Amino acid sequence: MKHLIDIMDLSVGEISELVDTAQDIIAHPEQYAHSCDGRKLATLFFEPSTRTRLSFEAAMYELGGHVLSVPGGNTSSAAKGESVADTARVVSCYADIIAMRHPKDGAPFVAAQSSLIPVINAGDGGHNHPTQTLTDLLTIYREKGRFDHLTIGLCGDLKYGRTVHSLINAMSRYPGNRFVLISPEELKLPGYVREEVLEANNIEYAETADMEEYMPQLDILYMTRVQRERFSDEQEYLRLKDSYILDSAKLEKAGPDMCILHPLPRVNEISVAVDSDPRACYFRQALCGKYIRMALILKLLRENDGVPAGSRVIPSQKRLVNVLRCRNPRCISGVEQELDQVFVLTDPKKNTYRCLYCENEAEETPQPGNANS
Ligand code: CP
Repeated sequence: MKHLIDIMDLSVGEISELVDTAQDIIAHPEQYAHSCDGRKLATLFFEPSTRTRLSFEAAMYELGGHVLSVPGGNTSSAAKGESVADTARVVSCYADIIAMRHPKDGAPFVAAQSSLIPVINAGDGGHNHPTQTLTDLLTIYREKGRFDHLTIGLCGDLKYGRTVHSLINAMSRYPGNRFVLISPEELKLPGYVREEVLEANNIEYAETADMEEYMPQLDILYMTRVQRERFSDEQEYLRLKDSYILDSAKLEKAGPDMCILHPLPRVNEISVAVDSDPRACYFRQALCGKYIRMALILKLLRENDGVPAGSRVIPSQKRLVNVLRCRNPRCISGVEQELDQVFVLTDPKKNTYRCLYCENEAEETPQPGNANS
């Protein structure tokens, strides 16, 4: 069974195929109007959303399909304590495909283990948001005509911004891309993305707290919101929330073709005056979200038709099962009933183990010979 939990579940070839299909849908929407007749998408959203939920639902309707929707966790049996695994197994009885958003890192991964139908991660905690990345990729392709040899500035909350983590993973696979990581010290990119994606692949990057320092060099400026819902300390959020505000004066240093992206929602990090600048692409980006999700639904339904149910392939690295506990308070492994605590060896040279669900690094160092699979 093919699911989409992490953008790395898709090969570069599959991403090109999705972008091509989305472009074809944009050009010939009538040819796709009955592609999903009789099929049902379940949108299980346990966290607020406007774009992702509505674009998934619009996508399914425009393919001729139907939508079953749980727009808030408190209107489903999750509010009574039902596990993610049970929810996914039960929804498999009613729908053909699931799009799940959840506040816990790794929840859609757990759903995919028990689901009998494809599961799409529509955003899990501060971890990943692969369909936003597909949206970003379609937008970049339509605006810049390529995925390679681009200088990409990522600005704001790089620590909790799940869209940033997925986008860096995706764009690191194309040659010649460089990253400029713009954030305050407290919201820097997590070590696992910096070390195991950028450094492990010898990708050029710079870190700065100054939004304007690299502005003239950027092909893309990806703005992000400071993620209030991920902070345990409200005072810390209030201190950091206005770290970066893009306005017309700051844009004077940018090139004429720089593309301004933002996954949205925006709070105040882009001045409304910027919306009329031709470099502002974020509303076109929101529209791209519907077309790429149409392409994704089509692909997953077609590829899984006739395929027996089965769980997502678990990485083949050495694993520790129920030896360590994940210390990430947002990890699904802290709340899901009888879920094994699993850590995988991601860097054998440094003996780095990461949680299977949320990718947080193990705080204790496992002793040699402790691995049990
Ligand atoms: N970009 C994005 O995920 O928006 P929503 O939270 O509104 O779905």
